[in-house]
Amino acid sequence: QAQTINVRLQPSPEAPVIDKHIYGHFAEHLGTCIYGGFYVGEKSTLVPHTEGVRNDVIEALKKLKIPNLRWPGGCFADTYHWKDGVGPKEKRPTIVNQWWGGVTEDNSFGTHDFLNLCERIGAEPYLAGNIGSGTVQELADWVQYVNFNGVSPMSKWRRENGRDKPWNVRYWGVGNEAWGCGGHMTPEYYANEYRKYATFMSDWGNSSKIFRIASGASSGDYKWTEVLMKNIPLNLLEGVALHHYAVVDWNKKGSSLEFNEEEYAANMRVTWQMEELVREHSKIMDKYDPKKKVALVVDEWGAWYDPLPGTNPGFLQQQNTMRDAMVAGITLNIFNNHADRVRMANLAQTINVLQAVILTDKEKLLLTPTYHVMEMYNVHQDAKLIPVDFKAPLFIRGKDSLPAVSISASVDKAGKTHISLVNMDPSKIHTVQLDLGKAMKSVSGRILQSASLKDHNSFEQPEKVKPRAFNDAKLKDKQLSLQLPAASVIVLELQ
Ligand code: AHR
Repeated sequence: QAQTINVRLQPSPEAPVIDKHIYGHFAEHLGTCIYGGFYVGEKSTLVPHTEGVRNDVIEALKKLKIPNLRWPGGCFADTYHWKDGVGPKEKRPTIVNQWWGGVTEDNSFGTHDFLNLCERIGAEPYLAGNIGSGTVQELADWVQYVNFNGVSPMSKWRRENGRDKPWNVRYWGVGNEAWGCGGHMTPEYYANEYRKYATFMSDWGNSSKIFRIASGASSGDYKWTEVLMKNIPLNLLEGVALHHYAVVDWNKKGSSLEFNEEEYAANMRVTWQMEELVREHSKIMDKYDPKKKVALVVDEWGAWYDPLPGTNPGFLQQQNTMRDAMVAGITLNIFNNHADRVRMANLAQTINVLQAVILTDKEKLLLTPTYHVMEMYNVHQDAKLIPVDFKAPLFIRGKDSLPAVSISASVDKAGKTHISLVNMDPSKIHTVQLDLGKAMKSVSGRILQSASLKDHNSFEQPEKVKPRAFNDAKLKDKQLSLQLPAASVIVLELQ
């Protein structure tokens, strides 16, 4: 007989607001994320598009309420020279994508295309600057090109290329994975480079201040964060990144579609690891920045499996099952619950790459289970966190012993309370009794669940996995009870 899980909501005036930017996405020039995914080109007759960007993608991302989009990489960012991607398209030089499949790109999707796309979907752009193979001048020029309203060589060039008003881009990455594909730097060397680049990234008189994000640690590399926090003055730094992929073994990542229960448990272990990473990196940041001025920006996260058989291995193409819905639900709850320091995050990646929210195949498009989780959770964006207190039952398989249930809660500006619950146990139902702290009048909800953890959406069955109404929560004054079906994600709304 399974025990009831008693959960207490503990609203607190000190609790942070969950920054909407936790729900950000990432679009790299990698495989078919940009070319074929977002962008089919102005002349395409394949699908309806706006200036070459697929309309179906624009609609799906608007519905997701995507708050920010990171571009152009990833590893690609430190090879990218933005000046090659502006001006008449037929005159642009090509670039060989050295990290991802060695394909030659024609630079037809550049700065204007990306920033206009962001405006269309209502997302703030997050540009990743080239530190590895670029120059300080090149990045300073990019900032001036997109953000300066006055008269300057760069703003003149922007106007000649068809854009009068600046886009006022706030979020800027100062390199990517500087410890690896971004230049194999030591943290000490990178911290010095960062200081130099950050100095010349001007606000250009804009009222919205530029937000500079230092290339951060890989998973548990705490020394990286320590050295950066120690060596970069706080007046030059707004965010420090962290990358953590839910990968069990980098040499044998496993299939995105076929897995047994032990493998699933291992995937969940590396997913739950995010909790410890966020906590420990935050502790280091607290030492140097006790007022929490600097954000922890988890600008790459998600599940990473072996490429689908028959696809270009450099394109990192994988399917997305209910297992990935568990990865997303648990990770987003972790971010919500650490919203005091985690103020931005980016799922890798938006379309056709890694834990994508959208898959396309020529004219076809489908939404993955991960899309549905992100869409269900968007009610937490900019809502005030309600800390939750409970003891999670354990899911035990082999040497893994993990919390089976994950929960976060928030109250939005209209006074609606939202609670997101994940039961990652593939076979056990869990009963939850919530003490809401105050009487509520109504409850409604949605659930994402399917017969098997391996269930996914395909172009033959694009709607096999999708959310449905959940009406089984019982409300009585300030008590709410419900059963969490095995392998399910539920979001409740209470008023
Ligand atoms: O998201 C794929 C790659 O993973 C990114 O380009 C890089 O930053 C990371 O190693």
